[in-house]
Amino acid sequence: MYRRATGPVGTTAFIAFLLGIPILAGGIWLSSSATDCIRFLQLPLIILGVTLMAISLFGLSAACYGQIKLIRFFLFLLFLFLFAILFFIIFAYAVTDKGKGQVVVNRAFLEYHLEDYSGWLKDRVVDGDNWEKVSGCVQRSGECGVSMARYVRDLNSGLLVPESADAFYQRNLSPLESGCCKPPTSCGYTYVNETVWNPVPGVPATDPDCTRWSNDQQVLCYQCDSCKAGVLATTRRHWRKVSVINIVVLVLLVILYLIGCIAYRHAKRAHYDETYGVNRMSKTAPSMFRF
Ligand SMILES: *[C@@H]1O[C@H](CO)[C@@H](O)[C@H](O)[C@H]1NC(C)=O
Repeated sequence: MYRRATGPVGTTAFIAFLLGIPILAGGIWLSSSATDCIRFLQLPLIILGVTLMAISLFGLSAACYGQIKLIRFFLFLLFLFLFAILFFIIFAYAVTDKGKGQVVVNRAFLEYHLEDYSGWLKDRVVDGDNWEKVSGCVQRSGECGVSMARYVRDLNSGLLVPESADAFYQRNLSPLESGCCKPPTSCGYTYVNETVWNPVPGVPATDPDCTRWSNDQQVLCYQCDSCKAGVLATTRRHWRKVSVINIVVLVLLVILYLIGCIAYRHAKRAHYDETYGVNRMSKTAPSMFRF
């Protein structure tokens, strides 16, 4: 009889197992994303997903064998897990709290300024040693390469040429493309193609990024502050997406946890009834076994 009563706990554990999949998928998506160059939360996310699945499998077997004590332990683990994921969501929001792209006149894309960012994550990215690694990652990600190039056929010569400056200005660039692959608009450089820009003689460059810019395709703006800001903006975007998944999972898990607790109480009552042969239909059931 109490086997039947533990059925809802099994269903709860099974759904909790399924909820581990989106968490795990979020971690794998971030790990496999070439443009995510700040790798510090992917592993915790994958661990969270796997942990939820392991807890759920444990709960599933506890329910299958109708072990009341194990079911209670499963619910306790699930309760701890709710706090772990809540902590994770708050942390991810806290570190990606500040900073967004700036609108530039006559440009469809946004530009990114390091001054707009602050806090722990920024310190991690900007710090000399770390930036060498991160900028190497940005370079390898290929954001400034073929994926950014757009060619149009020249009407006179019939050859493929880079799209016009005006067409480029109307593009919606990613934070990395905007921050790392071209000089800041304030430098006033002339467009040749997406990653080749020539300084205008006599125009003073006020932004230090203007002198960091190089048409050498291995250098570009990878050492610019705008690139650091672009990396931070990318991380923020990714983390906001992952956090949405985590919040949905958290809400569903809280509901599941409550259902699991109710199912546990029923299972416990059924367990006592069976063990002590209590007949619920009679009024003589000892009051200590009533819940
Ligand atoms: C722009 O031109 C340079 C030099 O011809 C070339 O190396 C680079 O790949 C071009 N940039 C893009 C984004 O195609």
